[in-house]
Amino acid sequence: MMKERTFVLVKPDGVCKRLIGQLIKRIEDEGFKIVALKMVKPDKSEIEKFYQPHKGRAFFPGLVKFMLTSPCVAMVVEGENTVQKVRELIGERVPAEASKGSIRGDFGSDGRRNIVHGSDSLESVKREINCFFSSDEIFSYDEDDWLNSEPG
Ligand code: PPS
Repeated sequence: MMKERTFVLVKPDGVCKRLIGQLIKRIEDEGFKIVALKMVKPDKSEIEKFYQPHKGRAFFPGLVKFMLTSPCVAMVVEGENTVQKVRELIGERVPAEASKGSIRGDFGSDGRRNIVHGSDSLESVKREINCFFSSDEIFSYDEDDWLNSEPG
């Protein structure tokens, strides 16, 4: 199996609507492994750096303002073909156009307040992980590691 990582950020609406668990459940149910996880409250310059590829777009100032409204939850997800698969789980940007059963289709409010971000390419994964995690905050483990302990 080719292991691939992707970066996921639960946005302020996802956190405030108590959807962190839902999102993690959908990711884990897909067979993916969470290898890094934390709540973050990036400041304006950190958000601008994260969304730097979209700087200059009309929606950019509004997006930055929205991202400052509450903490977010950042995670690194590992598995097979995670970039594409997690994007499918998340769904189209505009919730009304996203399929039912996708995160945005089920819970999103509008094209800005759309619950969660997932990296769109391996190049973005690298850059986005570096915005939030140092290498010692990303873990390697096997699903049967816990079996190496004695029953209690
Ligand atoms: S692109 O370039 O528009 O195709 O890229 P896309 O992946 O659709 O969007 C890039 C990120 O910008 C957000 N976005 C918007 N936010 C608010 N309002 C509008 N109109 C808007 N258009 C795009 C979009 O949600 C993406 O952010 P993430 O965090 O990845 O969802």
